[in-house]
Amino acid sequence: MARHLITSAIPYINGIKHLGNLVGSQLPADLSARYLRQRGHEVMFICATDEHGTPAELAAKKAGKPVAEYCAEMHATQAGIAQNFGLSFDHFGRSSSERNHVLTQHFAGKLDENGYVSEVEERQVYSIDDGRFLPDRYIEGTCPNCGYDKARGDQCENCTKQLDPTDLIDPRSAISGSTNLEVRATKHLYLRQRTLRPELEAWIDSKNDWPILTTSIAKKWLNDGDGLQDRGITRDLDWGIPVKKGEKPWPGMEGKVFYVWFDAPIEYIAGTAECTDARGEPDAAWRRWWRLDEGADDVTYTQFMGKDNVPFHTLSFPATIIGSGEPWKLVDYIKSFNYLTYDGGQFSTSQGRGVFMDQALSILPADYWRWWLLSHAPESGDAEFTWDNFQQSVNKDLADVLGNFVSRITKFCRSKFGEVVPQGGEYGPEELALIDAIDARVRAYEGFMDRMEVRKSASELRAIWVLGNEYLQSAAPWTTIKTDEVRAAMQVRLGLNLIRLYAVLSAPFIPFAADTMLAGMQTDDRAWPMDARSALETLPAGHAFTVPEVLFAKISDEQRDEWQERFKGIRT
Ligand code: MF3
Ligand code: ZN
Repeated sequence: MARHLITSAIPYINGIKHLGNLVGSQLPADLSARYLRQRGHEVMFICATDEHGTPAELAAKKAGKPVAEYCAEMHATQAGIAQNFGLSFDHFGRSSSERNHVLTQHFAGKLDENGYVSEVEERQVYSIDDGRFLPDRYIEGTCPNCGYDKARGDQCENCTKQLDPTDLIDPRSAISGSTNLEVRATKHLYLRQRTLRPELEAWIDSKNDWPILTTSIAKKWLNDGDGLQDRGITRDLDWGIPVKKGEKPWPGMEGKVFYVWFDAPIEYIAGTAECTDARGEPDAAWRRWWRLDEGADDVTYTQFMGKDNVPFHTLSFPATIIGSGEPWKLVDYIKSFNYLTYDGGQFSTSQGRGVFMDQALSILPADYWRWWLLSHAPESGDAEFTWDNFQQSVNKDLADVLGNFVSRITKFCRSKFGEVVPQGGEYGPEELALIDAIDARVRAYEGFMDRMEVRKSASELRAIWVLGNEYLQSAAPWTTIKTDEVRAAMQVRLGLNLIRLYAVLSAPFIPFAADTMLAGMQTDDRAWPMDARSALETLPAGHAFTVPEVLFAKISDEQRDEWQERFKGIRT
């Protein structure tokens, strides 16, 4: 038994997330957390909402609410939807929490003590009409790189180039649209990441097992000059974590807050601290996940995120950790994802394009989405969601292969033997061959799951389902029973035990269906199969079961067309 710390990139608070966000971080992280727990490991799975910065302030303004109130409400909304998707966080925190304030200020203080913070006089765009500075997304204009006319002050959404507000052509305020702007001097803190380059490089070079996507982005930013610029870690905003050196004021920084990307990853730690209940010694309980001097040296820490988040997790956050000079745990493995596209275009939060998590659940249960998204995870390149592909995958994999297997066995047994596991009969060569094949595939499945190869895991799992179907097809108990009732009983008993085994193996992907299958088999035995032969003897003869409700309904062509039409437009 090992200890696994798992974090998912924390989603921005500015609205309900779309399926592209989900498959790039929270969902594969959940897959891994569920699997590792099932394998008997101790898991700490942390996520949170990312509540600071201009996205939060602008979204609150659009919703016509004070930002603190908006964030509290949207946190509750996102938490509820996450739960309905079966995301099994040990804690879903908030980057605006008190704990994160304290920790963020602590890290800033340590970095300063160690000489990694400098004060820089910056030239920032000031809006005379709005009476404030316009950092990041508060300013829009034309991208100097590609000419896109809705580029934001921090990044161009069209060509993904990182920008500074002063780079924009024809800039305007995103609050008022005013072009009555000027450049003013203001003082900000910079994290001197450049000084930490040798340490960061050595650390990244030591990670020879990371996915190529992660390493290539990390190295590009490390060597470009671009990514390892010293970066501003403070902003002229109202909402955020006030700039302090630990508990002490920071002279000259009054009224400023930390930049959202400085405090957000620290919430991974703060979230772990928040989740520990007050019994006993809460501090020691969370520190054993994070402090190398307090037991975290045997923790394996894995982060899940979309590719746009990789630079912050391979350079900026590690710079914060290393620069603190304190023995905090660094990430061991970064699983990153490409993008999921939607029906020939991009998912877009700002434009409301694609299927959002709440909409998805309003038309189909979570497992349909979980299965499609994970079995099509954008691992080796971008992946595309189309309604046609979704329909085919659900109908074939879930309804025809898995659902049909469960319903055929249970209904056949009920009609011939009643709702109990029938007794008698011995395995023949066909059964022994099936058991061998299952053993081999389960070992392969474990290998892919251990390496977090999401698509390969899904296809191995599907292949295990297929083995059962093929067996059932050729064993044909409905024919056997006409001549050899004892043999048919053995075939059915094996089939019922396969249902339990499938529930156990499938639970990380489709936890709700797995629960239904186990409830139908009237067992809560979730033991991971060490060897298929004994795993398939879990339900003994005489054990009662019930025929489960239909596991997966097929998606009709009419539904497919209707949904395609309904979701093609812009979410309002
Ligand atoms: N909110 C960011 C996004 O959705 C992710 C932040 S991850 C963290 O892209 F490391 F900052 F926590
Ligand atoms: Zn651009």
